[in-house]
Amino acid sequence: MSLQTNTALNNPVDYGTPKRVSEKLVTLEIDGVEISVPEGTSVMSAAMEAGVKVPKLCATDSLEPFGSCRLCLVEIEGRKGYPASCTTNVAPGMKVRTQTPKLADIRRNVMELYISDHPLDCLTCPANGNCELQDMAGVVGLREVRYGYDGENHLKAEKDTSNPYFDFDPSKCIVCSRCVRACEEVQGTFALTIDSRGFASMVSAGESQDFMESECVSCGACVQACPTATLMEKSVVQKGQADHSVVTTCAYCGVGCAFRAEMKGAELVRMVPHKDGKANRGHSCVKGRFAFGYATHPDRITKPMIRAKISDPWREVSWDEAIAHTASEFKRIQAKYGRGSIGGITSSRCSNEETYLVQKLVRAAFGNNNVDTCARVCHSPTGYGLKTTLGESAGTQDFDSVMKSDVMMVIGANPTDGHPVFASRMKRRLRQGAKLIIADPRTIDMVRSPHVEADYHLQLRPGTNVALVNSLAHVIVTEGLVKEDFVAARCDMKEFAKWKAFIAEARNSPEEMEKVTGVPAASVRGAARLYATGGNAAIYYGLGVTEHSQGSTMVMGIANLAMATGNIGHEGVGVNPLRGQNNVQGSCDMGSFPHELPGYRHVSDDATRALFEKEWGVKLDNEPGLRIPNMFDASIDGSFRGLYIQGEDIAQSDPDTQHVTHALTDMECVVVQDLFLNESAKFAHVFLPGSSFLEKNGTFTNAERRISPVRKVMPPLAGKEDWEVTVALSNALGYPMNYKHPSEIMDEIARLTPTFTGVSYRKLDELGSVQWPCNDHAPEGTPTMHVEEFVRGKGRFVVTEFIPTEERTTGKYPLILTTGRILSQYNVGAQTRRTANNLWHDEDRLEIHPHDAEQRGIKDGDWVGVTSRAGETVMRARIAERMQPGVVYTTFHFPGSGANVITTDNSDWATNCPEYKVTAVQVTQVTQPSSWQKRFEEFTSTQLDLLPKRETSKA
Ligand code: SF4
Ligand code: SF4
Ligand code: SF4
Ligand code: FES
Repeated sequence: MSLQTNTALNNPVDYGTPKRVSEKLVTLEIDGVEISVPEGTSVMSAAMEAGVKVPKLCATDSLEPFGSCRLCLVEIEGRKGYPASCTTNVAPGMKVRTQTPKLADIRRNVMELYISDHPLDCLTCPANGNCELQDMAGVVGLREVRYGYDGENHLKAEKDTSNPYFDFDPSKCIVCSRCVRACEEVQGTFALTIDSRGFASMVSAGESQDFMESECVSCGACVQACPTATLMEKSVVQKGQADHSVVTTCAYCGVGCAFRAEMKGAELVRMVPHKDGKANRGHSCVKGRFAFGYATHPDRITKPMIRAKISDPWREVSWDEAIAHTASEFKRIQAKYGRGSIGGITSSRCSNEETYLVQKLVRAAFGNNNVDTCARVCHSPTGYGLKTTLGESAGTQDFDSVMKSDVMMVIGANPTDGHPVFASRMKRRLRQGAKLIIADPRTIDMVRSPHVEADYHLQLRPGTNVALVNSLAHVIVTEGLVKEDFVAARCDMKEFAKWKAFIAEARNSPEEMEKVTGVPAASVRGAARLYATGGNAAIYYGLGVTEHSQGSTMVMGIANLAMATGNIGHEGVGVNPLRGQNNVQGSCDMGSFPHELPGYRHVSDDATRALFEKEWGVKLDNEPGLRIPNMFDASIDGSFRGLYIQGEDIAQSDPDTQHVTHALTDMECVVVQDLFLNESAKFAHVFLPGSSFLEKNGTFTNAERRISPVRKVMPPLAGKEDWEVTVALSNALGYPMNYKHPSEIMDEIARLTPTFTGVSYRKLDELGSVQWPCNDHAPEGTPTMHVEEFVRGKGRFVVTEFIPTEERTTGKYPLILTTGRILSQYNVGAQTRRTANNLWHDEDRLEIHPHDAEQRGIKDGDWVGVTSRAGETVMRARIAERMQPGVVYTTFHFPGSGANVITTDNSDWATNCPEYKVTAVQVTQVTQPSSWQKRFEEFTSTQLDLLPKRETSKA
């Protein structure tokens, strides 16, 4: 069973106004057809339900009705005049007529006015064939424009082409305000307004700025909403309208937005957010919507390559030769150094099926458990912490749940940059009145943005999360805010009593902890009371929680808080890790960790191993294998000699770069499977070309445990999908794999993994997506977890002692560096740096508070050296009020900025997740790059020269 590929363009039905939910049905008659619809439904939407299309322009079902165009007028028996059907709600017994001679007359007049101020260039217009104005002119039967075209008009209005992805052509604007409302209601940025009044009224970005200068974040919601060619994707202007579309899933962040990939043959014309996508509900961000150009970038390497030493030129070879060479090298290394001398790294950017195969390859064909994943460096503490306390290594809610939250607590996450589509949902709920608590060292955008203001910003010092969560819990326990009945019914009381006694100790009080966290005790008390008593309270957290030496402790602290207040097990509440990459959840689910088989079952468990041994036909090792940092250490020690890396760039993303590159240099066979010659590939001996998400079938699992289909929209540029490469390698190593299609891999996953038993490609076709657990108990998946009881039975409170990181500021390193990401770039930037997203962010900068900058004589834009105990790098400074004094910040999207040259090898006590968020540094003015950067530039240049002659950029 393969995922169905859609063939038509699949323009979704537009009901004109949003669907209303009500148990009360209202029955009315529209053009003689009786119809019952939920109370609150508009006449326009009810008409659509009855199969009657009322002409419209300013209405669309992603936005609240506005009633400005007057095209949707109807007649209602017993009512005077001609009410607009989009702004008139249904009433019992109502009799509506949508087509009468009078209505036809009015509509033609309205259209005549629009058209008299509209360029009549339909044949050459990029929206030709997909323009609502054109459609409506046809629908109302417009035949002439009596006013002529010579009057005052906007036909010469200047185009704004400043945005790299879409144009704004005001000459075609009908001032329906759909764009303005989309920016407000859907995106929550409020970048657009209608300037002036009457005839002079005009859409304007910001204060009459162009789009690029304005607050616009290029999410595309306005372009999506525009019924004309006024706001139009440049790709459509250049390529024309698509001829078919395929529903697939964004390959960037853990929100997992569904898109229609609109195609012209095998060429992608545009990505349009899918209205039925349950993660995104028709919305998108700049990355998924527009930044897909990397997939066909000339830097793509599409031929397998091998070389004996990393100083040798690459030699392009056939797939057969590359696979045979890799297998022979891995066998040689194992014969010489032992079975455990090789391993593999899976990627959270790859699909579930690909990840599953890589861990199977390592366990069954390599014969060891040396498999790890990049989730090691981001959310491994989530897996450990939530499994220990709640019994399952995953978030508890679906994204829709936030619309039932009364209080949101955002800890160590920056949703508007990292999870932008979900951030828009959060902001929508906040505008409806939900309360907001933010715990973050920086003043992130959500602290204060249009119509959103945090009730509490707990601006803690980096590294003090556990101290903060303990002081929040202290207030809840000592002020009698524990939900005793929930705890008694659902949790292990012995563990609770231990925790309660610990947390109630005076040393955990906000007043005591203020000395550690820097957060005023009164704010902590206020925030704790709000969280405990404000109604449904949900916690959303990110890497600012996990990437610490106490990451796992903090995750457990968060779970303690939710259990103590009963904020778990129903809609609107929960503990929700916001996953960074598209398939972090999936790569963990699929058994990418060295100690766990798929479904988070320990390799030492005999029954689990027996199950896999029977299905795979091999004996499995019962000892956990090497974690990524152990692989590096073992390489430097001489016992680990070969590595297969699929879709991951450890040389850029892992901490202490010099240690990583030392380890890679010492290996005898590094195999990199990727789209580009990434930083790790510069140390590789075999390069196997990867396939982008557009070139393969599979599934991704997002932060809500939602398994969504990834559908092939074009053939793989290198001739093979990634899973086929792993299959070929396994066969060459002598362990047979015989899959014909990724659906067969998913069927195997379902056979072996209790939470996936009910998952199949057929079900994904039927339901669109499904949240695990999906099995006999929950055939259509599980939106909310731990409803009746916790997965582990009784919820377990864990004592969360605050043990400060060993990384301390000193006179030599007086500042704390913390790292993060930015909206327009993604992770190591390999994809987004190869798109026009660079226009928003073309280098990593060091953000520094004005006081710290002034003390050092640093001005905005100056080159500064950032030195830590691990290394030194140089970048330009950005003076930023949003920093707190004593804390500096940077992103890690550009390899040359060397952010990870300075991060240390401190890591989480339970999972080894690196402590990216706390590095003691000194910052000084400098005039030249660091010595590491000079070496890096030289090495990069040499490595690019070793590629077969081709067009490359030095991105
Ligand atoms: S730009 Fe498009 S959506 Fe905005 S007012 Fe003009 S026609 Fe309407
Ligand atoms: S692209 Fe998004 S942020 Fe920019 S104006 Fe349009 S809706 Fe607003
Ligand atoms: S929010 Fe994430 S999943 Fe959605 S379009 Fe943006 S990058 Fe893609
Ligand atoms: S569609 Fe109803 S007034 Fe425009």
